[in-house]
Amino acid sequence: MPMTRLLPPPAPGADAALPAATPSAQTLTLLAQRRSTTARLMTGPGPDAQQRDALLRLAARTPDHGKLFPWRFITFEGEARARFGDILEARLRDLEPEAPPERFELERNRFTRAPLVIAVISDVTENHKIPEWEQILSAGAVCQTLLVAASAMGFAAQWLTEWYAYDRIARAALGLASGERVAGFIYIGTAAENPAERPRKPPRVSAWGG
Ligand SMILES: Cc1cc2nc3c(=O)[nH]c(=O)nc-3n(C[C@H](O)[C@H](O)[C@H](O)COP(=O)(O)O)c2cc1C
Repeated sequence: MPMTRLLPPPAPGADAALPAATPSAQTLTLLAQRRSTTARLMTGPGPDAQQRDALLRLAARTPDHGKLFPWRFITFEGEARARFGDILEARLRDLEPEAPPERFELERNRFTRAPLVIAVISDVTENHKIPEWEQILSAGAVCQTLLVAASAMGFAAQWLTEWYAYDRIARAALGLASGERVAGFIYIGTAAENPAERPRKPPRVSAWGG
C-alpha cells in the first residue's frame, strides 16, 4: 500500500479564484525522479474507488483548446480485466492459431497485470476550427497527467498501447466509434520492484535568433 493515502483537494467550483502557483519541492522531486514501472512488475493494491475517481478528475483538468474535452475514459477493474483478456486471447487464436501456449497466457493475463487499467480514448471532432492535431495532443497530455497524478498518490504507472490499441476486433470490444483512437492504456498499481533510471538524452534545444 502506498505509505500515505493521499487525495487531492476537491475540484474548485466554477469561476473560483485559484491560488497563484506556489513552489513545491515535492512536485519538483516527483518530476525529476518519476519513472514508469513496467506493468509486468506491478502488483496490488491499486487505487480504491475514491482514488480512481480523483485520478480521472485530475486528468480531465488537462488543457484542451476550444473546451472540446476531446477524450474519454474506459476503466478496467476486478473481473472485467480477465474478461477483456479472454477477448484478446480469442483474437490471438484467430490471428495466430499456432502461437505457443505462453502467448495465449500472456494475452489472457494482459489486463490483470495491474489492479487498474484506464484506457484514454482520443475522441476528435472532425472539421472543427480547432485542428485535429491539437485535440490529439490533448489526449496525450491526459495520459501524462494520469502518470504524474498516480505517482503523486504513491502508485506505479505505465502508459502502454501494445497491439490491441490498433486491432479492429479489440477496438470493437472497447466500443470505439470510427473516429476514436486509443491514446493509451494507463496501467496503475503498486511496484513489486522499484525501477532504476533509464538512459535519457539531454533535451535538444536551440535558442532561436542565435
Ligand atoms: C503513446 C505511448 C505508447 C507506448 N506504448 C508502449 C508499449 O506498447 N510498450 C512498451 O513497452 N512501452 C510503451 N511505451 C513506453 C512506456 O510507457 C514508457 O514510456 C517507457 O517504458 C519509459 O518511460 P519513463 O520515462 O516514464 O520511465 C509507450 C509510450 C507512449 C508515450
